[in-house]
Amino acid sequence: MRVLNFSVNGIPRTVHLEEGRVMLSSVLRDYLGLKGTKVGCGTGQCGACTVVMDGKAVASCVIPAEKAEGKSVLTIEGLTEGGELHPVQQAFIEAGAIQCGFCTPGFVMRVYALLSENPEADDAAIEAALNKHLCRCTGYETIFEAALLARAKMVGQN
Ligand code: FES
Ligand code: FES
Repeated sequence: MRVLNFSVNGIPRTVHLEEGRVMLSSVLRDYLGLKGTKVGCGTGQCGACTVVMDGKAVASCVIPAEKAEGKSVLTIEGLTEGGELHPVQQAFIEAGAIQCGFCTPGFVMRVYALLSENPEADDAAIEAALNKHLCRCTGYETIFEAALLARAKMVGQN
């Protein structure tokens, strides 16, 4: 049996992986019960499964579990601190950027990763980041507005 040691939302975790191909999305959802990370396409195309690994947004459905060894992974469950929503989460709510919500954790983690790396990311950089994701419901405009609002909130924090 393979053993994976990594950190999830700041907590060291040890996972005993079954034989065969196991993806990071499955480790998070099926082994650790963190169902906030969604799986849509399963092929790296839709962005629903996006988490942040060592500061970078990644599609967890195409990351073999072994690649997370020793890494630090942040999921949507880890964004909330002391019961307070993260400003990016708050921005999505305030901008009305959520309908069915299936795509939302992925978008939120993408925007979080971008603005954590560069809190003053310009509109084009935000658009390019959002273009890595699909949403069937919102028409994207409110998601873009949410990202702009998140940027304003995060700049305001610094
Ligand atoms: S579920 Fe991973 S990119 Fe679509
Ligand atoms: S809100 Fe439904 S897929 Fe985006």
